[in-house]
Amino acid sequence: MTVASAPRILRTVQQVRQWRLDCLLNRESVGFIPTMGALHAGHCSLIAESLKQNDHTMVSIFVNPSQFAPHEDLDAYPRTVDSDMDQLTKAFTKKQVSAVFIPKVSEMYPSGIELEVSKQRGAFVTVHGCSEQLEGGSRPQFFRGVATVVSKLLNVVTPEKVYFGQKDAQQCVVIRNLVKDMLINTEVVVLPTLRESSGLAMSSRNAYLSEEAKSESSVIYRALKAGESFYDEHSKDGEAVDAYLISNEIRNVLSTAPSGFKLEYLSISHPETLDDLTTVKPGIGALISTAVRVPREDGQETRLIDNIVLK
Ligand code: PAF
Repeated sequence: MTVASAPRILRTVQQVRQWRLDCLLNRESVGFIPTMGALHAGHCSLIAESLKQNDHTMVSIFVNPSQFAPHEDLDAYPRTVDSDMDQLTKAFTKKQVSAVFIPKVSEMYPSGIELEVSKQRGAFVTVHGCSEQLEGGSRPQFFRGVATVVSKLLNVVTPEKVYFGQKDAQQCVVIRNLVKDMLINTEVVVLPTLRESSGLAMSSRNAYLSEEAKSESSVIYRALKAGESFYDEHSKDGEAVDAYLISNEIRNVLSTAPSGFKLEYLSISHPETLDDLTTVKPGIGALISTAVRVPREDGQETRLIDNIVLK
């Protein structure tokens, strides 16, 4: 019996740079999966793909303060490093994750970090044009925080490939634009959303829902699929399709959701710029994205996001 060995833990930027230099000198490629921990099946699928495509895979676990607003409870974010390490050690049998970067906040923010943007000092990265809408509408500093920390991480790790899940579609667009505009020498790989058999997108937030609520929430993906079918049917001959009609199809299905479900937004946007579309043209396609608030047994709500890409 072989006992799986735990990946190496690196805590400082200096340690990661040394590790990376050794890979480079050995001409070994590096795939990188940035995370905030609380690892789930979605992360594991990104890691599994990186293990296949690269000589080495590095995972980072860092709860990034700058993507939280002062009223969003940064302290309440789950910090589960021990079970994350356990999972990373046991989940992959053929090949292991080579190293896990677990920095302190002071390592990633040497000038310090305040949650209130007006009090922040130092360098931050904003990807204008695709950070303000959709998820950015309710979380105005979120993508600035994500772009900032991902810039830092890519600068330190310099991976050949970095992996993200399509579930966070807007984050993928922001990162693609970041990498393009800042001339970062890393390929962004986006992998499909993992789903439950009901179609519900896998998310750490699903853990807040009862089995019944999870099953009811599958209406979100059914609605997106109805929009996709409508588009496929009406664009068969290369015709552009009115975004409003696609949106109606989706809303019709969503209207069958149990009472208490609240649609926060439904957007049909350009897949690269996230600009709103009035028509969807085959060949350009669209990103349909939505956020829905699902009622919980404890009287609170869980906000679920999902999306589908039209070709
Ligand atoms: O998707 C996440 O978990 C985070 O936004 C990321 C990319 C790790 C940046 O903190």
